[in-house]
Amino acid sequence: MFTHPENGGVPVAPLNGKASAKVIRLRPHALASLFSGIGGFDLGFQRAGFEISFQCEISDFCQAILKRHFPKVPRTTNIKEINGADIPTSDVWVAGFPCQDVSLARMGKRDGLKGQQSGLFFHFARLVGESRPRVLVVENVPGLLSSHQGRDFGIVLGTLAELGYSLGWRVLNSKNFGVPQSRQRVFLVGCHRDREGPAQILFEPERGGGDASPRGSDGAAAVSPFKRVVEHPGGEGAVTPAIAYCLYAESARHTGTDWSRNYVVYPSQGAVRRLTPSECEGVMAFPPSWSVPSEVHWDEETYDTLRYHALGNAVTPPVAEWLAGRIRDYLDLRLGLRHEHQDGIGGRDVAAGAAGHATCASPLEPLVAEASTS
Ligand SMILES: C[S@@+](CC[C@H](N)C(=O)[O-])C[C@H]1O[C@@H](n2cnc3c(N)ncnc32)[C@H](O)[C@@H]1O
Repeated sequence: MFTHPENGGVPVAPLNGKASAKVIRLRPHALASLFSGIGGFDLGFQRAGFEISFQCEISDFCQAILKRHFPKVPRTTNIKEINGADIPTSDVWVAGFPCQDVSLARMGKRDGLKGQQSGLFFHFARLVGESRPRVLVVENVPGLLSSHQGRDFGIVLGTLAELGYSLGWRVLNSKNFGVPQSRQRVFLVGCHRDREGPAQILFEPERGGGDASPRGSDGAAAVSPFKRVVEHPGGEGAVTPAIAYCLYAESARHTGTDWSRNYVVYPSQGAVRRLTPSECEGVMAFPPSWSVPSEVHWDEETYDTLRYHALGNAVTPPVAEWLAGRIRDYLDLRLGLRHEHQDGIGGRDVAAGAAGHATCASPLEPLVAEASTS
């Protein structure tokens, strides 16, 4: 046995007895999760073999869900009150910082990074500056790309680039990862002092089947998946679209002015209803009952609102898992490590259908982002 200098001193086994040969990673890569919510990132990374080293989440409700699913993970509440030294050394940090101030779902003026919520990004950046993890993943709504005519996104890029990160980003739609929901989110990947890393992680060299609208054998455009309704398994003649519209953080009290376009329809009765929190879990591709906390001490309406909110804010685990697999392979290659199911970056069968993208090694290089309407 010998120790690999970049594997935290953890013993790695030489293959064929040669110290210079490929080695096997004995310890999973570690993931620190900031703004953890209900752990969409955490679940996806765990499925890809990562060990969750740390979580930070201010909401009591989300904390109670995290506690149930990740009982042994050290956890803290307010990102404003921690320092880099509080976070165990971790290869990867993920952060879906609050989107309220950049989201187009909030009609009217957007405060952007000057807002109290989205401005928490700067606390994340402060911690990154103190610890410089090898890989960062920042997630947000596509509205981040257009907030203040793109200046806010430029600030995000510039702040992380100044800390030594090369950056790339991609808008991924959950519907291309087997999730029954059209949910576009920006994923910004930063690699410390490695210009090639973000593109290796985010962009597969091969092309999938393409993302053009499917056509029938006669060449006619297929029916939109939103219109293709499927029967609700438990209901009497109830129908729902095969792919739901994007879920937002909504209240249990239906105001009529919210953004929901997701309804279960009972055509024979001329009635509609909204999705239940449990159905939202399915539409987010979480396991059943994932958003049920360790203890319930809220009235029914508050409890439902908390679940709708938490689910509407979350990352879908299949997208997180895909990214995690790419990052795991990147780290293994970078560290000179291999593991049994190593198939190389780009060697996996990946989902197609991303939208805007570009990479940026320095804030001085031109930035290109495809305009987004979400
Ligand atoms: C967009 S959500 C992240 C969702 C998460 N990625 C998931 O999969 O569930 C942002 C989260 O940041 C949390 N948050 C807001 N202010 C915070 C603070 N000061 N410290 C830590 N977490 C905070 C919110 O409670 C919310 O759960």
